[in-house]
Amino acid sequence: MATLTLTQITKRFGDHPVLHGIDLDIAEGEFVVFVGPSGCGKSTLLRLICGLDEISTGTLQIDGEVVNDVPPAKRGIAMVFQSYALYPHMSVADNMGYALRLAGASRADITARVTQAAEVLRLTPLLDRKPRQLSGGQRQRVAIGRAIVREPRIFLFDEPLSNLDAALRVDMRGEIARLKARLGTTMIYVTHDQTEAMTLADKIVVMNAGRVEQVGSPLDLYRRPANRFVAGFIGSPRMNILQPTLFEATAVPAGAALIGVRAEDLSLVDAGGFVGTVALVEHLGSDVFAHVEVAGAELPVIVRLPGDAHLARGATVRLAAAPADLHAFNEAGARIDTTQPDRRAA
Ligand SMILES: Nc1ncnc2c1ncn2[C@@H]1O[C@H](COP(=O)(O)OP(=O)(O)O)[C@@H](O)[C@H]1O
Ligand SMILES: [Mg+2]
Repeated sequence: MATLTLTQITKRFGDHPVLHGIDLDIAEGEFVVFVGPSGCGKSTLLRLICGLDEISTGTLQIDGEVVNDVPPAKRGIAMVFQSYALYPHMSVADNMGYALRLAGASRADITARVTQAAEVLRLTPLLDRKPRQLSGGQRQRVAIGRAIVREPRIFLFDEPLSNLDAALRVDMRGEIARLKARLGTTMIYVTHDQTEAMTLADKIVVMNAGRVEQVGSPLDLYRRPANRFVAGFIGSPRMNILQPTLFEATAVPAGAALIGVRAEDLSLVDAGGFVGTVALVEHLGSDVFAHVEVAGAELPVIVRLPGDAHLARGATVRLAAAPADLHAFNEAGARIDTTQPDRRAA
């Protein structure tokens, strides 16, 4: 287990700056998830942390020691990638133990560590198989097993499940959660998947264009996004962004340029609220998502209704939300904190 401290880390490739001063503290045993749009620098940051790429400026500390110039093999970090190249001619056990064999570990030590990792990952019955005799999820577990046997201080995962189909992803998500509970090792995990981020993370780091937009617990980010970007990025369906004029003036804080409201915080009302036209009704079984076209909203407003709600396409509806459920953002996109008036932006 280890702590990690990133201080003003930048990275440029030639003239092309990719990371613009990343500050981040990761505690011992913490499970941290990096999310952000494609190309925002998540993989680059992982590569800097494990030493596959060189940091341009700034410092990286592991357990308080600056490791900028420490070679990857000496950092005690193991990385699991999206595409995992297993050796096709080797058994599962040999694939898992290969790095240890290269490092000169004894046969007994290799066997002990592989046996234990296989047990953690429920691979014990598969140890004699070849990779081609495994499912996609099993192969990814072997790839994780290869990392575990090295007993790293820190695990890095770069979208490890994105090659798997939806059902397998759910199973593997459970597997990773078990791993986290069982090993307690510090982990950094990159994903595109909202559910993975929300369910696995102790802490989510939202990145955008080489910067950190916000760091917080999943519920912090969901309930109190610091700015419009985070509001739009965290949560599925996305947060609705609306003109303040659609709401009662008394419900809108001074300086609000846009109002965010989540699908579950909107409801159908008989009077008051604002008017829209139902453009699409999605029945998900447990919920209904209605997409409502509203003048003053760029995108259709998404409303979550109970699974038995009946709503016809083309119907005119009235929508409203409680004032406490409104998220206000100023012209620059920053959250206006209505509970702390002195921190309001002008
Ligand atoms: N070796 C490289 N040389 C030049 N540019 C790179 C290199 N690696 C990544 N980049 C650029 O850095 C940016 C961030 O990439 P990446 O970290 O892979 O993003 P993400 O993982 O968030 O999708 C992208 O614009 C990408 O083109
Ligand atoms: Mg990437």
